[in-house]
Amino acid sequence: IRPASGYLACGDTGAGKMPEPETLFEYILRTVGYPKDMVGKKVLITAGPTGEAIDPVRYITNHSTGKMGYAIAKAAAYRGAEVTLVTGPVAIKPPMFVKVVPVESAEDMFQAVTERSEWADIIIKAAAVADYRPATVSSEKIKKSDDQMSIGLERTQDILGYLGAHKRDGQFLCGFAMETQDLLENASQKLKKKNADMIVANNLKVTGAGFAGDTNVVTLITENGAEEQELMSKEEVA
Ligand code: CTP
Repeated sequence: IRPASGYLACGDTGAGKMPEPETLFEYILRTVGYPKDMVGKKVLITAGPTGEAIDPVRYITNHSTGKMGYAIAKAAAYRGAEVTLVTGPVAIKPPMFVKVVPVESAEDMFQAVTERSEWADIIIKAAAVADYRPATVSSEKIKKSDDQMSIGLERTQDILGYLGAHKRDGQFLCGFAMETQDLLENASQKLKKKNADMIVANNLKVTGAGFAGDTNVVTLITENGAEEQELMSKEEVA
């Protein structure tokens, strides 16, 4: 790999430094850490929350960290796939070997994903997309008053639903489902309703599952049935 740039021991500035150990490790992982069984596959992944503006300083969002989607993007890239990651605002570093497309709102994500969906062999929708956004966005900061206030909400586009309705031949579509009750039933319904090939369902009430933390407990649902997985790291799930 190429040397990193910066201030060098000889006093010059330029390319000639040892890359950071983390960078070296990423290259090693990609080179020898995984079987190359996804070479030639084009994978589109979404991750993180969306942010829906209320006014110039406030927005509605959720607790998604992006960790699950980022782990999937990395795993696919390590396995040789060409990966595009459409990501809402998150605090984690963009993964190497992946094309990252940052977006903010559900509408931005819809645009970014549908522009690229024809290209993708596999689409994995790990993002926690807002289902509703403020019906009007104030161009000025909203001032407080002593009265109560409320925000009118309207539906966002269902990106997964759209992708399912416009799926091309041979394309594999995977959605996520977070449930707090009737996990299997709700997730199986989602599989059919969204015309998806797989739903990764997690029960938010199970310890170690969901948004928070580095682990997940998922059930993989396909038309062939449900496969419950043990508690494992998000990397292993990916
Ligand atoms: N999703 C999407 N577009 C949206 C909302 C969600 O693509 N506007 C995707 C998510 O990325 C995830 C899946 O849909 O893959 C979640 O399914 P959804 O039915 O939207 O989940 P919930 O909102 O949790 O379902 P419900 O409110 O119906 O229980």
